[in-house]
Amino acid sequence: MSVDVKTIEALFKEGRTFAPSEEFRAQANVSNDSLYKEADADIEAFWARQAEKYVSWYKKWDTTLEWDLPFAKWFAGGKLNAAYQCLDRHVAAGKGDKVAYLFEGEPGDTRSITYKQLLDEVCRLANALKGLGVKRGDRVGIYLGMIPELPAAMLACARIGAPHCVVFGGFSADAVADRMQDAGAVCLITQDEAWRRGKAVAMKHNADEACDKAETIKNMVVVRRTGAEVSMVAGRDHWYHELIADQSSECEPEVMDAEDLLFTLYTSGTTAKPKGIKHTTAGYMLQAMYTHDIVFNIHPDTVYWCAADIGWITGHTYIVYGTLGNGTTNILYEGTPDYPVKDRWWEIVEKYKATVLYCAPTAIRTFMKWGPEFPQKHDLSSLKLLGTVGEPINPEAWIWYRQFIGADSIPVVDTWWQTETGGIMVAPLPGVTTLKPGSATKPLPGIRAAVVDEAGKEVSPGGGGYVVLTHPWPGMLRGIWGADERYKETYWATYGDRYLAGDGARIDTDGYFWFMGRVDDVMNVSGHRISTTEVESALVDHPSVAEAAVVGKADEQTGQTIAAFVTLRSGIEGSTELVAELRNHVGKLIGPIAKPKFITFTPELPKTRSGKIMRRLLRDVSEQRLLGDTTTLADTGVVHELQRRAAEEAGKEA
Ligand code: WT7
Repeated sequence: MSVDVKTIEALFKEGRTFAPSEEFRAQANVSNDSLYKEADADIEAFWARQAEKYVSWYKKWDTTLEWDLPFAKWFAGGKLNAAYQCLDRHVAAGKGDKVAYLFEGEPGDTRSITYKQLLDEVCRLANALKGLGVKRGDRVGIYLGMIPELPAAMLACARIGAPHCVVFGGFSADAVADRMQDAGAVCLITQDEAWRRGKAVAMKHNADEACDKAETIKNMVVVRRTGAEVSMVAGRDHWYHELIADQSSECEPEVMDAEDLLFTLYTSGTTAKPKGIKHTTAGYMLQAMYTHDIVFNIHPDTVYWCAADIGWITGHTYIVYGTLGNGTTNILYEGTPDYPVKDRWWEIVEKYKATVLYCAPTAIRTFMKWGPEFPQKHDLSSLKLLGTVGEPINPEAWIWYRQFIGADSIPVVDTWWQTETGGIMVAPLPGVTTLKPGSATKPLPGIRAAVVDEAGKEVSPGGGGYVVLTHPWPGMLRGIWGADERYKETYWATYGDRYLAGDGARIDTDGYFWFMGRVDDVMNVSGHRISTTEVESALVDHPSVAEAAVVGKADEQTGQTIAAFVTLRSGIEGSTELVAELRNHVGKLIGPIAKPKFITFTPELPKTRSGKIMRRLLRDVSEQRLLGDTTTLADTGVVHELQRRAAEEAGKEA
């Protein structure tokens, strides 16, 4: 692990801060520091009060927290259903006609779906799944693009107590198969094709390939999106619209225990095998709703747009559970920011009068590059709050976002969290916190975080180190699917009773957190978490490759890009054709997002005397820095040669 202090020092140079305006404070859900005080005074009593406030219980819990390190139970004995929480109770309260989703398809088709309509659809699908033999406790795979059937499918699973396992629509057949096999999924919900920049992506075809390997899958449900002809396997495959057509729109929700599994979601770790992160029902729902409400300052008339993909945790929490739990109206957009025009997002903000926009810094840096003329073509005056997530935001991008999207007048909330945390952990309360561009500010009320050194000692103000979470929180992961040892090893072995996040941060004299990115072998490309070892193992899977080392190379726009150093098997020559072939191979095994941008062939990789690849030096090489400490390197000739070639390449580019 290493912490790059230089980057953060650059962030500190920005001096300007932004206190909440009087106008904002006047309508803020939280406008003083009482929540912090309450949580500090008695953290469990605090969460118990939030659980009363936000969650509708069939039966109240017996204990607020049972902490058998590192396994937590929150609200044990409590009974609820997440779909009921997101739908039925709003309909029962007379809000059935409120819009849940304003859907904007990539080709420009639109649908507006009310809470009542969504409830009907979820019940029909829930009944259909039961008809296929899906039972409480069975895992259901979901491999869909950003269409309304995706949240409907998740909620149908939640309704019948079948944990879902969503796989991002951009993943390959192999990646789907691995996850389905690991989860032991009995059913897979997918679509014919997905729209992607005007082209159709063959999702059903990928799903077929995945099902050939994942033998536990007995049924496939196929949503018709593009209308393309796809092959349907008799007995196994069913059209979604046919399946739900004759179903009743009533389906009694299963009464779930607070600690029943709601879903698993796979994320990359430091090994080649992705981890199925487990989230349970009550704690996750509470964390999702509470953070959504206080960080985004949700009101009954909020038009909320989280522009992430539901295939990642951001979408699970802030396009589905947190936001529907709070009865909010959401924009759901299927496409990319530049299709067919570079102002598509701003068209959408204007058309639906979005009041909140939540997106990744990568997107903002892309908009900066395109120039302010695109947002300036549109009336964005409906916006009241902006958010970011997924990677550190540089002060320059933060200020651009506020200035050109937020009319230089509305709060920007940088929110730090992870798949594992379930919901936001460190972020401002926009009616309370003075904002500093580039900082996620402070842990939310009820969250305890710290920055510690190698030995586990809290660093003094101004210092940098490793981010830890020092008290259990309701939305925390309950482990890794089928891998308790790995769970303990990954998050708890380093500091014993404190959760190791895997991020580096500096803490300033006001106690503000400045996150700096991962300190382990995990890359962050455009806010997506990709494991270096996962890409390496995809590369060595190719018959021409003997060995590979992958590093994240700093990139102005995407945060990091993937750089691979590859040693070929003897007798094989590197060529541009082979570079293309290797990139495609990685794309096939993982997905297009994991394709290395740079591939360098090298007769040898820099290793320590004990044979460990020195990724740190390769990072130095790829970012053309002076080499760090090379004393443990077995053969310094290797990196010097790579360095010479990197300089040569850069010369060519320039
Ligand atoms: C990793 C988690 C949480 C939803 C999206 C990503 C990085 C996340 C921030 C932020 C700096 C951030 C961290 C973290 N990250 N938000 N505001 N500032 N870094 O979820 O795929 O589980 O990745 O994303 O490195 O560990 P994820």
